[in-house]
Amino acid sequence: MNLITIDGPSASGKGTVSHLVAQHLGWDVLDSGALYRICAYAVLEYGLNADDEQAVAAVIPDLVIRFDVDRVYVNDQEVSEQLRLEHIGKLASKVAAYPAVRQALLDLQRSFLTNKGLVGDGRDMGTVIFPQAPLKIFLIADVNERAKRRYKQLVEKGIDADFEAILLDLQKRDEQDMNRAVAPLKPADDAIVIDSSYMGIQAVVDRILGHWEQVRVK
Ligand code: CDP
Ligand code: CDP
Repeated sequence: MNLITIDGPSASGKGTVSHLVAQHLGWDVLDSGALYRICAYAVLEYGLNADDEQAVAAVIPDLVIRFDVDRVYVNDQEVSEQLRLEHIGKLASKVAAYPAVRQALLDLQRSFLTNKGLVGDGRDMGTVIFPQAPLKIFLIADVNERAKRRYKQLVEKGIDADFEAILLDLQKRDEQDMNRAVAPLKPADDAIVIDSSYMGIQAVVDRILGHWEQVRVK
């Protein structure tokens, strides 16, 4: 089965590494975080009460979601840039704690797996969505390093950024994601943990491809 899951905290490099691994293997990528971000976007767009779990979950079947390389469309409107905004990330983490929201996104996520192959990027890819994955990676990095990466990413985009605020935000989101009752952020029992604090992107990609070679020949 052509399937690799890459889970881990925010700014550990999951998205970047997932795309490079998938590109090398000629596979698709599931950016599952984008789906929770889309829910957060819909809450704001439709003026829903974010505290109302059922109302948030109920909107999901009405959303026509389309991924085109790194562009994301909801009901034919491009939302790629909006989804990356920090307040959307925070709200995504809030609605992602609702069991009804996670349930409503379950089949959609699993439908991304085809014979072509898939790299699943998220928090619960290896634990809940694809427990059958032959290779599960849990990518971590020191929170200070992650904050530096996020800061650099924003500055390079010309966005005003405050390092301390980013650091606090990452810590808060990590805590929220790790301590929720459903699908908390944690490595699957059979996951390989890679600490990328002091590794370059290519080194992480090569390590994962090396593990895949070993799994594949078994
Ligand atoms: O890019 P970043 O790592 O900051 O976040 P993301 O992957 O876009 O995910 C945004 C939020 O969605 C996370 O903080 C999680 O709360 C939630 N999420 C989740 O619960 N399960 C997933 N498989 C992916 C994301
Ligand atoms: O998807 P996730 O939130 O886990 O992280 P990302 O958006 O892929 O990576 C955050 C930033 O860290 C990007 O600008 C990457 O280029 C950078 N990065 C890095 O500097 N070194 C790594 N080993 C991995 C990512």
